[in-house]
Amino acid sequence: MVNNKNTVWITGASSGIGKALTLEFARNNIFVIGTARRLELLNKIKKELADYGNNFEPHQLDVTDYAAIDKFHKKVLSNYRIDCLINNAGTTSFKKAIDDSIADIENILRVNLFGGIYTIKTVLPEMIERQSGTIINILSVVTQKVFTSSSAYTASKSGLLGYTKVLREEVRDKNIRIINVLPGATVTEMWPNKVVQKFGDSMMDAERIANLVFKLYSEKSNMITEEIILRPLKGDL
Ligand SMILES: NC(=O)c1ccc[n+]([C@@H]2O[C@H](COP(=O)([O-])OP(=O)(O)OC[C@H]3O[C@@H](n4cnc5c(N)ncnc54)[C@H](OP(=O)(O)O)[C@@H]3O)[C@@H](O)[C@H]2O)c1
Repeated sequence: MVNNKNTVWITGASSGIGKALTLEFARNNIFVIGTARRLELLNKIKKELADYGNNFEPHQLDVTDYAAIDKFHKKVLSNYRIDCLINNAGTTSFKKAIDDSIADIENILRVNLFGGIYTIKTVLPEMIERQSGTIINILSVVTQKVFTSSSAYTASKSGLLGYTKVLREEVRDKNIRIINVLPGATVTEMWPNKVVQKFGDSMMDAERIANLVFKLYSEKSNMITEEIILRPLKGDL
């Protein structure tokens, strides 16, 4: 039997922005299914949320593995009413195009672009059937401005931006909201330590981004924030 509680599925929930999103949504009484590869970190988050009842269910899942996602959908997700998918899992290399190996490039595209599309394809049919749902994609300012040493990353984020812009027009009349969040530099483990040490004070906090995303999710009316750019007040790094 399907649990009718509105459920939010957050990918890449084990650290950084995904962890902050998980804490923010669960503390605001939303049931969260959080996935990532590092199950031990997800279990730690579950302990951090001990005071918030059973609002968090962690599961190990690699977003590059469509067969695993499909199995996860049949075994776990189909038991819940997935009201919102937050496509957050992501990775980069910080290398110039000439230095990225084919394996680096494939990994970035598989996680950031294909991972996003796989998860969207997983939740979309039930959202269309229910005529409601929200898909939030954590993209990046690299879709708006050129940054060197991020060619594959920019291709992946721009790819998902394009895909979801088309999807939005296809599902608008089904009452499905597509919200694209484009953050600039945010303190997370994605950045090398030396960058955080040097620029950390002017970079954004994952917690503030999570708080804003929660507000965007909660604004359920005939109005939608379709795309939002978040930058450090002092500008890009
Ligand atoms: N930090 C920034 O400045 C910034 C700016 C703009 C956008 N973003 C975006 O924000 C999102 C979160 O990144 P973050 O900054 O919070 O970095 P992070 O702390 O490194 O988080 C990345 C998350 O993605 C997950 N992940 C990576 N590969 C995965 C895979 N194959 N399968 C499943 N999960 C995977 C990681 O979990 P596991 O390793 O446990 O699998 C981790 O939870 C990314 O999409 C990133 O591009 C970040």
